[in-house]
Amino acid sequence: MCGIVAYIGNKEAYPILIKGLQRLEYRGYDSAGVALLKDNHVNLYKKQGKVSDLENYAKQFDTSGKIGIGHTRWATHGLPNDINSHPHTSMDGKIAIIHNGIIENYDSIKEQLISRGYEFKSQTDTEVIVHLIDDILKKEGVDLAEAVRLALMSVIGAYAIVVLSSDYPDQLVCARKSSPLVVGIGQENDFYLASDATPIIEYTKQVVYLNDEEIATVSLKEGLKIINIKNQEKSPYVQELEMQIESLEKGGFEHFMLKEIFEQPRSIRDCFRGRLNSEEGWVQLGGLKDYEQRLIHANRLVMVACGTSWHACQVGEYLIEDLARINVEVEYASEFRYRNPIINENDIVIALTQSGETADTLAAIELAKQKGAKVLGITNVVGSSVSRATHAGSYTHAGPEIGVASTKAFTAQVTVLTLMALRLAHIRGTLSRSEFHQLTAELERIPDKVQRILESNDKIKEIAHIYHQATNALYLGRGSSFPVALEGALKLKEISYIHAEGYPAAEMKHGPIALIDEEMPVFVIATKGTSYEKVVSNIQEVKARKGKIISIVTEGDVQVKELSDHYIEIPETDEHLVPLLATIPLQILSYHIAVMRGCNVDQPRNLAKSVTVE
Ligand code: M6R
Repeated sequence: MCGIVAYIGNKEAYPILIKGLQRLEYRGYDSAGVALLKDNHVNLYKKQGKVSDLENYAKQFDTSGKIGIGHTRWATHGLPNDINSHPHTSMDGKIAIIHNGIIENYDSIKEQLISRGYEFKSQTDTEVIVHLIDDILKKEGVDLAEAVRLALMSVIGAYAIVVLSSDYPDQLVCARKSSPLVVGIGQENDFYLASDATPIIEYTKQVVYLNDEEIATVSLKEGLKIINIKNQEKSPYVQELEMQIESLEKGGFEHFMLKEIFEQPRSIRDCFRGRLNSEEGWVQLGGLKDYEQRLIHANRLVMVACGTSWHACQVGEYLIEDLARINVEVEYASEFRYRNPIINENDIVIALTQSGETADTLAAIELAKQKGAKVLGITNVVGSSVSRATHAGSYTHAGPEIGVASTKAFTAQVTVLTLMALRLAHIRGTLSRSEFHQLTAELERIPDKVQRILESNDKIKEIAHIYHQATNALYLGRGSSFPVALEGALKLKEISYIHAEGYPAAEMKHGPIALIDEEMPVFVIATKGTSYEKVVSNIQEVKARKGKIISIVTEGDVQVKELSDHYIEIPETDEHLVPLLATIPLQILSYHIAVMRGCNVDQPRNLAKSVTVE
C-alpha cells in the first residue's frame, strides 16, 4: 500500500516523480503529493485523488528542482484528503517525508511530541516521524542520517521512508522495515528511490534492494552509503534488473487488466520454459532442487497466502495431493500468523504471493521459521521481501502485473504448482511414465488452448452485457474447479462491485440455494471430468428455481449446453489442468462487466495491489 518515489541528481525531478507515481499508482490512489527542493526551499504540492489530479493542480506552480520526493497513498490513518496526503513536513517546513507502512506506536510518540510543543496538521501516523527527526536534529546536533536512525529506533511498525531536508540540499535519506524500497543507481551520479523498480527501469538497471532496518543516504558528493539501525556500515549489493520497459505499458489495450489477461499464453509459457520437457520426460524447478528430499518426506506441506494467491494454493492442494500423494493444508496467512499453529521441523511451509510484499504472508513466513519449519516462497517479483525471507523458492515469471485484480499472476502461480506437483509425483513414483508424459505434454499445449479461449472474447462480452446489471452472482465448481469458482467470484466483486460468492457446487443446497430466483446469474464450471454428472445435477437444482445458468463447458459438450442459458466453451484438457483454462473466461467476463458498469478496472475502489499492512 502506498507508493513512494524520489530522485536526486542533475535532471529535473518533477517529471521523474510524476511518471514514477503513475507507475506506482496501483499501490494506492487515494491521494498523491510531491515535495521539491529549489533554492534551499521545500515546495510542497499534494492533492486528494489520482496522480492526474495532482498534475493538474501543480500546473499553476513552480515544479522545478533537481531533488524531490513523491507519494501515492492508500489511506490507513486519516481520511483520504489533501492534508493527510504525503509528503508531511516539519513545522518549519524544512524537512519533508514520504512513508509506506504503519507506525503502530504513533499515538504515544505523538503525545510526547505534543507535550514538547509540536503541532500536528494531519491525522496520519507518518507525521510523528518527521517531527521526531526534527526534534532529534535540534536536540542532538547530529546529521540527517543519524537523526533518521535515532528516530526509527523509537518507532514500532513497518516503514519505507524517504526524507528530504533543505539543510541537506545534496542528499536524501531513506530507510526500510517490512515495506519495500529499491535504490536505483543512475549513470549520471544520480539516484532513484522507489517502492519497486517500475519507476526506475527506464533510467537504470543497476539497483540495490534495501534490507530490513537499513538506512541509506544517497548524496551527490558521496554516492550511496548504507548503515543498519545499529549503526553498522553495510556494503550495497548491486543487482541488474531484468524487467522490460514495454511490460509496464498498456501496449494498445484499453486497460492493463485486459492486456494481462491476453498475455496469459505467453506468461504461462514463460513460467514453464526451461522447467519442463515432455519428450525427454522431465520437470524441474531449479530453485527448489535442494529441498526436494525434504518435500517428499515432509510430514505435510502448509501453504499460506492471501486473496487470489490463496485460491492458487487451493488448486495446488488438489494437484499435489492427487498427483504426488503428499498431505497439503492451505491457510490464510492472516489467520495462520495469529492462531499459534502447530508447525514443526518436518513441515514445509510454502508461501504464495504475487507481489512478494503482502504483510500477512511475510508475518506467516517469520512465524513458520521461528517454529523451525523450512519455508519456500513462490512469487512473481524478483528481489521482493518474500524472495529474501524464504529459504528457497520459485519465481512465476509472469512479468509485472499492474492491474490491481490479479489475472496472469494467478495462472502463473497455478502453473508453478502444477510443475511442483508433477516433479514431486515423478520423484515419488506416484504417476506412471505414460501418465507423466500425458500430463507434461498437455501442460505444454495449455498456452495454445488459452489463446483459443481468448478468441471467444466477443462472445463473452455479449454475455457480460446481459448480466452487467446484476446485483448478485453465484459461482459454482467442484474439485479443483471450486477454487476457480472462488477466484471468478473475487474477480467480479473486486472490479465491478457486484456481490458474488464462490461455492463448492454441492454445498449450494446447504444455504445459498435460498438466494436463487430468476434474477440470479449462476456461473458454473461444468467441464468434462469425474464430477461432471454431479455438477449436471447441481445445475438442474438451479434451473428448478429459475436461476440463470452461465456455464463453462468442454468443447463438444451437449448436456450442459442444453441446460444453460448461456455457455462458454473451453478446449478439452486433462482434468488437472482445467483451472488454467476455466479461469480465463471468468476473468474476461468480470472485465467486461466492470467496464460496462463504468468501473475503474485497473484501480478498483478501496483496493491496492500490494497489501503491505495487516
Ligand atoms: O501479492 P499477493 O499475491 O500476496 O496479494 C494477495 C492479495 O492481496 C491479492 O491476490 C488480491 O486478492 C488481489 N486483489 C486479487 O485480485
